[in-house]
Amino acid sequence: MNFIPYGKQLIEQDDIQSVIDVLKSDYLTTGPKIKEFENAIAKYSNVKYCIAVSNGTAALHLASLTLLNKGDKVITTPNSFLATSNSILYVGAKPIFVDIAKDGNIDLDLCEEELKKDSNIKAIYVVAFSGNMVNQDKLKYLRDTYSILILEDNAHAIGASYNGIKSGSCVNSDISIFSFHPVKHITTGEGGAITTNSKDIYEKLLSLRAHGIVKTSDMKPWEYEMKDLGYNYRITDIQCALGISQLKKLSEFIKRRFEIAKQYDNAFLDSIVQPLYTFNGKSSYHLYVVQVDFSKLSISKVDLFNELRKKDIGIQLHYIPINKQPYYKSLGYGNEVTPNMDEYYNKCFSLPMYPMLSNKEQDYVIRILLKVLNG
Ligand SMILES: Cc1ncc(COP(=O)(O)O)c(C=O)c1O
Repeated sequence: MNFIPYGKQLIEQDDIQSVIDVLKSDYLTTGPKIKEFENAIAKYSNVKYCIAVSNGTAALHLASLTLLNKGDKVITTPNSFLATSNSILYVGAKPIFVDIAKDGNIDLDLCEEELKKDSNIKAIYVVAFSGNMVNQDKLKYLRDTYSILILEDNAHAIGASYNGIKSGSCVNSDISIFSFHPVKHITTGEGGAITTNSKDIYEKLLSLRAHGIVKTSDMKPWEYEMKDLGYNYRITDIQCALGISQLKKLSEFIKRRFEIAKQYDNAFLDSIVQPLYTFNGKSSYHLYVVQVDFSKLSISKVDLFNELRKKDIGIQLHYIPINKQPYYKSLGYGNEVTPNMDEYYNKCFSLPMYPMLSNKEQDYVIRILLKVLNG
């Protein structure tokens, strides 16, 4: 058995050909594939505007530059990749970490308690953890009632939906972002995208992606103006060609992820392995997360990870609470009361989940996992 990672891209001959075609064309970057990819993502997500950028972290950085000012307070989740709250710090704003609910997503009821306590909170950054979008009715209620800005980090969740609302459609948010890192549903190598329904936000993002430069039709041919301090967060045509090709297969990829999720659900019925949630038709399953109460077992989580690695199974942990990271502790974080996150962190790990995972490999993962846990 070859090593089975927790996530992996699927690149086929047509994907390779689309990249080769761009390599033979006139434009490797700032060419036509970028708009084509952005249009395809916007259409897929039912949203007005899309900007493709060099990675998901750049997407979050630009989104934060657009939404926030120095000193703004932003509620966010400890259960995410560092980039979500780092982007708040990048712009001199202040993350406030709120506990998670039982599905691993930020607890929106607790968010409301924070909003009631402090009318100066500017925004909430939610994450569709593992591919499972947050309750959109509650999100809409918070947005309407407390006049806050909402960012949806959908790095895990392209292809997900919640009662007909697609991830990235920004029905109840100002901005959403995607990541196209190889472990995600579709890949451009590195890559990301920002979606929004606001023309103002879109135009600001366009300029910030390219050094803060603006060029208008009444300028002389060589002229451009720098109006903001922007960055070079451009994505290449080579990457976008791969993204366009991958996006065409996204529904097939998700179908396969659904099959794998249902097989895991069935395998763990009445076992000590508890899926974070069972199949709900909404999650697009970037991750398949389970929880095990190690306090009741003779094996520790460290031993489980080591035993499975020895057997070529790469389970992973999503996530170490961000507020407990040394850098965050140095800023005064880490003592928030987050009992659900603490319990979740003790129990959670993610199992292999990607379209190319074969039934045979999945059976092997299930069999070895249960065997090692049961001693
Ligand atoms: C929830 C979340 N947000 C943001 C990112 C950052 O994306 P990227 O790796 O493309 O910079 C990731 C990446 O893993 C992520 O999981």
